[in-house]
Amino acid sequence: EDYELGPYSDYMRKEIHEQPDAIRRAVMGRLDERFATAKLGGLNFDPRELRNIKRVKFLGCGSAYYAGQMGAALVEELARIPADAEPASEFRYRSPVVDPDALYVAVSQSGETSDTLMAVQELKRKGGQVMGAVNVVGSAIGRECGHGIFLHAGPEVAVASTKALTNMAVNFALLALLLGRVRDLSAAQGERVVRGLRGLPSQVTAMLNAEDEIAAIASEFADADHMFFIGRVRGWPVAREGAQKLKEISYVHAEAYQAGELKHGPLALIAPDMPSVVVIPSDDLVAKNISTIEQIKARGGPVIAVTSTDIPAGLADALIRVPRTEPELEPILFNIPLQLLAYHTAAKLGRDIDKPRNLAKSVTVE
Ligand code: G6P
Repeated sequence: EDYELGPYSDYMRKEIHEQPDAIRRAVMGRLDERFATAKLGGLNFDPRELRNIKRVKFLGCGSAYYAGQMGAALVEELARIPADAEPASEFRYRSPVVDPDALYVAVSQSGETSDTLMAVQELKRKGGQVMGAVNVVGSAIGRECGHGIFLHAGPEVAVASTKALTNMAVNFALLALLLGRVRDLSAAQGERVVRGLRGLPSQVTAMLNAEDEIAAIASEFADADHMFFIGRVRGWPVAREGAQKLKEISYVHAEAYQAGELKHGPLALIAPDMPSVVVIPSDDLVAKNISTIEQIKARGGPVIAVTSTDIPAGLADALIRVPRTEPELEPILFNIPLQLLAYHTAAKLGRDIDKPRNLAKSVTVE
């Protein structure tokens, strides 16, 4: 029944609204309250093998790559294992040094993306340890990896990924929790993350209830030809994914930038016709992010602030409030309003939202 549009005019909006249920499915049976950890049956590693992982690298394309960036941050924060993400296409073409003590995570909604599959095969040839994080059961990448976690997002039809990306990040939180709990993450910290994950579906629902306000903001800024998406640290992959979503479905040129890098170039472009979406999580960088907004405003740039904390009244031209969750999980929630912003910008501009020009849902050829 997932393929029926029901009351929705397109799949993207339907899939955005399915996210609370998608998250519930991802965590169902996988949270162990007693030991404050995650249970991931398909992983097939024993605790000693999990402890021996010295590095984690996420590989994927498009939104799966940005989800991998969120995953890398979660693994570093919760498990304190060095982690990063790289586009699978780059990895497969550049003669990578394969680390036998690393865990490679191939991330793909479809499980069929050619670049990601090729990266997996290259890794296996070189003795790398690779697990899949795929949504489609029985897909090529899932079969090739042997170890893995299924995303349980349900079928995703719209070209632009929404619930699959959310479930990627939720699954990486589970993976990071598990890796953390076989290492130094305390039971109390584990419980905090478990509680946070349990609370996410209703917080996503609360975020979706703000859709009308976000649609109004989208209409107000839909005339812009270019937009910046600014974030730092936890806000950075969120900004990248937000820019990607806006580009792919609305054709508005969007560029993501780390807040600290603004002054090293892009500030030159700030002007009244160049709005910036600034992502401000509740971390210890709030003051820095407020000063970023001030720098943009001082140059006449309009600002849409997306935040779970308090920022000075009147500072931003538009404000989107995000519910407060555990700090490490914030990127998952912050992504939701940016999906809605992209969606309603594209709707306002009359785009073919489910089938953006020149793009395919999965790219199985080079
Ligand atoms: C295509 C789609 C993107 C998607 C990417 C990776 O480019 O247009 O939305 O993120 O492929 O797809 P995958 O199925 O591997 O997650």
